[in-house]
Amino acid sequence: MRNDGDVNNSAERAREYPRVTSFRFRRGSLTTGQQRNWETLWPQLGVDILTADTKPDGPLDLEALFGRQAPTVLEIGSGTGISTAAMAAAEPDVDVLAVEVYRPGLAQLVGLVDRNGLTNVRMIRGDATVVLTELIRPASLTGIRLFFPDPWPKSRHHKRRFVQSGTLELMADRLIGGGVLHIATDHAGYAEWIAEKLATQDPAGHHVVQLTGASPISLDRPTTKFEGRAEREGRDVNEFVYTRPVPRGTGPGGTGTGTDTDGTADDSEDAS
Ligand SMILES: C[S@@+](CC[C@H](N)C(=O)[O-])C[C@H]1O[C@@H](n2cnc3c(N)ncnc32)[C@H](O)[C@@H]1O
Repeated sequence: MRNDGDVNNSAERAREYPRVTSFRFRRGSLTTGQQRNWETLWPQLGVDILTADTKPDGPLDLEALFGRQAPTVLEIGSGTGISTAAMAAAEPDVDVLAVEVYRPGLAQLVGLVDRNGLTNVRMIRGDATVVLTELIRPASLTGIRLFFPDPWPKSRHHKRRFVQSGTLELMADRLIGGGVLHIATDHAGYAEWIAEKLATQDPAGHHVVQLTGASPISLDRPTTKFEGRAEREGRDVNEFVYTRPVPRGTGPGGTGTGTDTDGTADDSEDAS
């Protein structure tokens, strides 16, 4: 992975999002096959910024990372990579960067990428907040996927939820104009929390609005074990599909560096 330029002062940015982490360290050993994949394929497909001293000291060059210029989707908390691999296979023209802390999950995704011959998936083992803050340039992502984030149901743990006002603003900033934030949760309390955070965004800052037009990326998710369990247990899955407004006078993909204007027909301000 190549670093390119210096967009953010990372220490400064990190101070803007003071949070406890949204994950807990889970132990998990790799099967023999996963261990083999990890040793042979991981170095080509991923980088570990969590436990190894390999964090690039500036934003990633996504074009160099994927070896082509294509719309890029960041998937936060890819788990075992079921959605990641299926959605990447269904959309070969879109590059998918999966961020996860759980090594056995990433090892499974490495195997899926290999078995399915996918060339459009790369991975980062690390905290997605650090990745967004330090490794992703503003206005560079066509999509961000956050599927079944850990709900942290106890009130005293709500501060651990990934979706906070600060992370919403950060994600909005990293999307291109017209880029999509797609969130799914099977936890009713977290769904209310997300709806509330979306509804109370600062319209003067980087923000997202409900997508009412066509999406530039697929919104079709395969059923993962979280969704399957939710269905069996009679819980609804709530989805949020939001977009960064296209700056006035530009088409989708406008960089809109800090001056978003909600002026197009698709830019509804209805954030519920
Ligand atoms: C409930 S699982 C959902 C996995 C997957 N998205 C799915 O739908 O099957 C949430 C995942 O997010 C990961 N996670 C939580 N916070 C994270 C963070 N800040 N950065 C990267 N991964 C995170 C956890 O390790 C966990 O694997």
